[in-house]
Amino acid sequence: MIAGARVVLYVTGGIAAYKAADLASRLTQAGAAVDVVLSRAAEEFVGPLTFEALTQRAVYRADASMTRGHQIAHVHLARRADALVVAPATADALARLAQGRADDLGTAIALSTAAPLVAAPAMEPAMYAHAATQANLATLRARGARVIDPDCGRLASGAQGKGRLPPTETLMDMLGAALGRDGPLRGRVVVVSAGGTREFLDPVRFIGNRASGRQGVELARAAANLGAATRLVLGAASVDPPASVDTTRVESADEMLAALRQAVDGCDALIMNAAVGDYRPARRAVSKLKRRGSAAQLDLVENPDLLRSLPGGFVRVGFAAETDDHLANARAKLRAKRLDALVVNDVGRADRGFAAAANEVTIVRPDRPDQTVPLTSKAAVAAAVLDVVVDLLAAAAHGPPA
Ligand SMILES: Cc1cc2nc3c(=O)[nH]c(=O)nc-3n(C[C@H](O)[C@H](O)[C@H](O)COP(=O)(O)O)c2cc1C
Repeated sequence: MIAGARVVLYVTGGIAAYKAADLASRLTQAGAAVDVVLSRAAEEFVGPLTFEALTQRAVYRADASMTRGHQIAHVHLARRADALVVAPATADALARLAQGRADDLGTAIALSTAAPLVAAPAMEPAMYAHAATQANLATLRARGARVIDPDCGRLASGAQGKGRLPPTETLMDMLGAALGRDGPLRGRVVVVSAGGTREFLDPVRFIGNRASGRQGVELARAAANLGAATRLVLGAASVDPPASVDTTRVESADEMLAALRQAVDGCDALIMNAAVGDYRPARRAVSKLKRRGSAAQLDLVENPDLLRSLPGGFVRVGFAAETDDHLANARAKLRAKRLDALVVNDVGRADRGFAAAANEVTIVRPDRPDQTVPLTSKAAVAAAVLDVVVDLLAAAAHGPPA
């Protein structure tokens, strides 16, 4: 979503203004054209040269930039923006935005643009918690702005509390979803399961698997970036869930099933990407099992088949991780599990699938030729799978978009 987007980044005068330089850089690297607008106060914290160098574009300064050439800057920037990001957003800037003031270039753009507004408040915890700031945030949210909750932690003053600007990754996720708000999944609810399950033998040991959660997290991010309200049920994972999706964390297959039962309520599509253990220990010891100086046996019982346990008329996409004959049984599985599509990946090789950064999959559908997605990033695999979901949802059987 970010590649090719025109983003206006309005930097206001908070101590976190230096972090906006990283955001400008990452957006530029991701292929966005970033027009940075500095408030008067922001220039006290970080200079225009930094942003000019990082974005390779001229920076708009509060006093000097009300026109550029023959263009009226706020009208020109407002018209061409795909999104307006205020990061960091000071308490004062939030107040001005909520009031609809136009006393500098950034606020004038906010009043003039139809593009989505993404605001990332960053300030002292007391300022953030103040009823005035909270009322301003509620006003902006009610108008459709996406407000990114600040993180908790240490502030520049030494205070601890809620008010830190979240990491650049979080801002990028929220911007991606804002840019995709009118995408082909607008009005749709997509549920994704991801990560691995852990079945505990005792309080510290478990039977797990090598799933990293990366592919499922990319699927959830891709769904959000196409406009879907996205619910992620995430088991054990080595990556963070995207900030743009509603995430429930689980450990065991039973917990995953319970979370999915809630998540699929009213959903349009379910993508089952999680690596769910087929078996769990018959008993879970209350205290840590001790060595006994002899061989030990572990009794296992079967876990429920999650897909079969989730009735409903939504589109169903499954993932199959195979180490051999990976396409041989795919069509049988597709029918047996009544799937609309099955994404088959060969996890027997170190450079793809499971914990690897890349993946190569074949997408099998009942009435279509197999579609192979050659070795590529998990984000690109996610995009290909979401294309299939869009196609399946567009099919009349599942009704028109809301
Ligand atoms: C050293 C210093 C740090 C500041 N940090 C913040 C901050 O993190 N968040 C905030 O809302 N205001 C902060 N302020 C106050 C703003 O700079 C002030 O409200 C200013 O008028 C904001 O203008 P702007 O919103 O146009 O950028 C800080 C002020 C100073 C002097």
